[in-house]
Amino acid sequence: MRDAEKPKMAALRLAVCCSAGRSFLQSKNALHASRVNMSFASLSKGRKVAISTLGVLTAGGAGLALVLHQSVKASDLELHPPSYPWSHNGLLSSLDHASIRRGYQVYKQVCAACHSMEYLAFRNLVGVSHTEEEVKGLAEEIEVVDGPDESGEMFTRPGKLSDYFPKPYSNPEAARAANNGALPPDLSYIVNARHGAEDYVFSLLTGYCDPPAGVSVREGLYYNPYFPGQAIAMAPPIYNEVLEYDDGTSATMSQVAKDVCTFLRWAAEPEHDQRKRMGLKLLMGSAILIPLVYYLKRHRWSVLKSRKIAYRPPK
Ligand code: HEC
Repeated sequence: MRDAEKPKMAALRLAVCCSAGRSFLQSKNALHASRVNMSFASLSKGRKVAISTLGVLTAGGAGLALVLHQSVKASDLELHPPSYPWSHNGLLSSLDHASIRRGYQVYKQVCAACHSMEYLAFRNLVGVSHTEEEVKGLAEEIEVVDGPDESGEMFTRPGKLSDYFPKPYSNPEAARAANNGALPPDLSYIVNARHGAEDYVFSLLTGYCDPPAGVSVREGLYYNPYFPGQAIAMAPPIYNEVLEYDDGTSATMSQVAKDVCTFLRWAAEPEHDQRKRMGLKLLMGSAILIPLVYYLKRHRWSVLKSRKIAYRPPK
């Protein structure tokens, strides 16, 4: 660097430090970088026409392809379930535990004939839908193969709180053989495993109807507009008065479907109520903490934020 430039650089450095430096840097004559002009307007007329034509053709082609694709797409023929006003939908609403209790009864008396729920144990029901005594009673109704005992033999014993729900079939092959080759899926997480969650399961259970004119379903399959493909291997499992509720609620088809869906939602998301309670606590905590932290931040930074740095040139 030449000697003559030194004072200039020093002045520049100082200018950057003080606030006046900002306007100095923005002024036209300081540090101006020449840029190549690449705008559309600067192109020749022929190029403009060529680029415009290319753009129109590309956009038109893409649009046409999309429209054609939409018109021939045959993959979206099933009916999408409406969204139902579940009592647990709200931001702060818990599950309806009386409904979970009835839903368990529906599962046990109807669905358990074909569907397993292998991730649920009897102990999970304690404090949710039943008391400990009640659940012990429920568990004792089943026979569990345990062992081996001292002589190496397997034996059966009444169920305990720690036992998992009994399975209707010992293996998937047996389940298929009994259901025309279709496997009834495990219901533990079914509402999380299907688009539309409990809305879908509710619609599926209540949506059986006669096939429309011109549509026939194979022997052993049933028409259901909500099922992908419309032909489901599950016979309509519920109807009015399919069971009698212990608590005296009248067991209409929609009531039964609603209760079993609430039960299945709990099964797939047992932390549901806890999650919403934690959410509320978090919101209430942050309502106090965030303003406090904001105030503290302003307080701490006030010295830095309100200071003024001035450059006083030497006399
Ligand atoms: C008679 C046996 C049987 C009973 C009882 C039964 N299901 Fe099913 N379920 C099946 C079979 C078989 C399938 C598989 C259907 C298929 O893949 O076509 C199935 C499939 C399902 C599916 C999955 C549908 C999908 O999208 O893949 C759900 C959800 C379901 N059942 C819920 C229930 C509920 C809830 C009950 C009790 C109210 C119940 N089922 C009672 C046999 C049964």
